[in-house]
Amino acid sequence: MKTLTIRKPDDFHLHLRQGERMGDYARETARSFARALVMPNTLPPVTDPAGMEAYKKAIETEAPGLEALMAFKLLPDMPAGIVPEMKKAGAVIGKLYPAGATTNAEDGISSYRQIPDVLEAMEAEGMVLSIHGEHPEKPVLEREISYLTELEQIIRDYPKLPIVLEHLSCRESLRFLEQTPDHVRGTVTTHHLLFTLDDLMGGSLNPHLFCKPVVKKEEDRRALVDAVCSGHPRLFYGSDSAPHLKESKESGSCGAGAFTSPVALPLLAELFEQEDALDRLEDFVSRKGADFYGLPLNKESLTLVKEPWTVPDLIGGAVPLLAGETLSWKISS
Ligand code: NCD
Ligand code: ZN
Repeated sequence: MKTLTIRKPDDFHLHLRQGERMGDYARETARSFARALVMPNTLPPVTDPAGMEAYKKAIETEAPGLEALMAFKLLPDMPAGIVPEMKKAGAVIGKLYPAGATTNAEDGISSYRQIPDVLEAMEAEGMVLSIHGEHPEKPVLEREISYLTELEQIIRDYPKLPIVLEHLSCRESLRFLEQTPDHVRGTVTTHHLLFTLDDLMGGSLNPHLFCKPVVKKEEDRRALVDAVCSGHPRLFYGSDSAPHLKESKESGSCGAGAFTSPVALPLLAELFEQEDALDRLEDFVSRKGADFYGLPLNKESLTLVKEPWTVPDLIGGAVPLLAGETLSWKISS
């Protein structure tokens, strides 16, 4: 049977929520990933050192073997003094959500000009600014493109601030990344590499693929695949796996977020194999992100086998992407 063994991956963009289901999601991640950068858009959000440390401890207690890398959420009225404190407490990023751009982002930032002192402090501390790059007031397919103008201004105003544009979804963002300094990087998800608007709503509506930014056109997907599979030096993996309870996804007001952790590595292996780029997978999922964040490479390995398996219907009350479907690559337990 064909197998693939790689250095155990890192997920540099993950939602684990909190409360009783968090352990299920964290353990699912631990099967494929050694470390995960856990997003702070919980309810309440992660905004202070004690809360962040407690969240890290809770995750690592629930999922032995998974190292939680921590993040804090930028709020409009946040004092700049919090930045060195968060850094000391181990925060890897400060996350900027434009207000209203996505799930649990109502309390986000309306313009980067709202938080000059915080951004200055982050630049001084060398702390990474991670951005959900969408302007929610724009039409849905133009939100990311529109944000690139603001991003350009952030880069100009804070020339030493390391920045990650999260979950790239369109060609324009790739082109943008060609013109930015080396300390500006991007993450790419599994779903933006594999699906388009037609998968989301070309036939019957698939709420489990509804996420922000929304998956886009085939030309965008193709450009992302070409960039990632050719070993683009500025792109690394972040799943943006975002579980929501089944009842809430399959309802009249479906929240944004695709639960992809259980299928991420099997789907990536299949894609990279099809693109004749299996030898590039490890760099994308296990090396480039760690290098950017200055983290040592993981020592453990992950083996995938080419053996069909069926994606479970439910994990921790949430429906994984492609539930009930058969995938060709499987994580070896
Ligand atoms: C994420 C979530 O559910 O927390 N949703 C999503 O559609 N990606 C938030 C986010 O990263 O946008
Ligand atoms: Zn996210």
